[in-house]
Amino acid sequence: MKKRVAVLMGGWSSEREVSLSSGRGCVEALKRAGYDVTAIDLTRDLGALIKALDPKPDVVFNILHGPFGEDGRIQGLLDILGIPYTNSGALASALGMDKAASRAMFQAAGLPMAPGRIWDRTMLLAHVEPERPYVVKPIAEGSSVGVHIVFESDNISLRQIATDLAAHSRVIVEKYIPGREIQVAVMGDRALGAIEIRTKRRFYDYVAKYTPGESQHLMPAPIHADAYRAACELGVAAHRTLGCRGVSRVDLRYDDTDGEPGTLYLLEVNTQPGMTPTSLVPEIAQHNGISFEALCSWMVENAECDA
Ligand SMILES: Nc1ncnc2c1ncn2[C@@H]1O[C@H](COP(=O)(O)OP(=O)(O)O)[C@@H](O)[C@H]1O
Ligand SMILES: [Mg+2]
Repeated sequence: MKKRVAVLMGGWSSEREVSLSSGRGCVEALKRAGYDVTAIDLTRDLGALIKALDPKPDVVFNILHGPFGEDGRIQGLLDILGIPYTNSGALASALGMDKAASRAMFQAAGLPMAPGRIWDRTMLLAHVEPERPYVVKPIAEGSSVGVHIVFESDNISLRQIATDLAAHSRVIVEKYIPGREIQVAVMGDRALGAIEIRTKRRFYDYVAKYTPGESQHLMPAPIHADAYRAACELGVAAHRTLGCRGVSRVDLRYDDTDGEPGTLYLLEVNTQPGMTPTSLVPEIAQHNGISFEALCSWMVENAECDA
C-alpha cells in the first residue's frame, strides 16, 4: 500500500507565494518517490480542512511558512487530529517563530547571539537612535520581511522604521554583525553542512532570497575549517535547544573582519525551511548526496505527532 501524504501549503501569511512554490516541488518529488499525494491549500475554513483530511492521510507534509503554519498552531491542530506531520512539534515551532522567545532560550543555553533588545512600540517611539549600524526586525516574520538594516550613511530614522513596522507590537533592535552570511541545514540530530550566501544587495533580503541570480550560494561555505565545524555544531545546538524535529535551517552571521577563524552569531532557527528551487536546505542536502526526492521522503518517514 502506498503511504498517503497530504501536502499542506499556501496559507495566508506574507510567505504564501514561497510556500506554494515550495509545495509544488514537494508534491512532484513525493509522487516520484511513490507516495499517494494530495495537495491542500490552507484557508481559515477549518471545516474544509477537516474534510480534506478525511480519510486521514498517513502523514501531513507541512510546507507552510509564517504565522499559523510555522508557529505551532497548525502543529497543535494536527496533534489533536492525531496525524503525524513533518518537522517540529507545536512548542518548538512556536519558539522558533518567535524571535524573542528563541533568543531567551539561546541565551540561557549560552549560544552566541548578536547583542540586542526587545522593544515594544512605546519604547521604539520614545527611543533615541541606536548606535549605527543596527538592525530592526519583527519578532515573528520570515523571508527578511520587515527587516531594516541601518548603516552609518543611511538617511532613515528609527521613527520612520517604527512607522513602517506599525503592525508589529514588538520588534528586535540588535547590533549589525558585519561579515558573512552562513546557513546550516540540520536533519534529525546532525548537521548536513554549512552554505555561504553572497549578494550584491544591501543584505540578504526578500529579493535576494527568491530571485534567481540575486544571490550566490557557495557550498560548502569557504570558511576556515574550525569555523565550518563550529557553525555546524552551533546549528545542531540551536535545533536541540528549541527541541526541533525533522529538518530545520539555522541562520548565522560570521564576522571574519578581524581575520579567520572569526566569530559566529546565531540569528534564528527556521523550523519550516523553504523548499523552493533556489532554497538552501535542498542544495545542502544535494551536496551530501541526498536528492530532493530522498530529502522529502526522509521527512515523511520521520514525521511524528503528539497524539
Ligand atoms: N544582527 C544582524 N546583523 C547583520 N545582518 C542581520 C542581522 N539580523 C538580520 N540580518 C540580515 O537579515 C536577514 C534576515 O534576518 P533573520 O533574523 O534571519 O530573519 P528572517 O529570515 O526570519 O526574516 C539575515 O539573513 C541577515 O542577512
Ligand atoms: Mg532568516
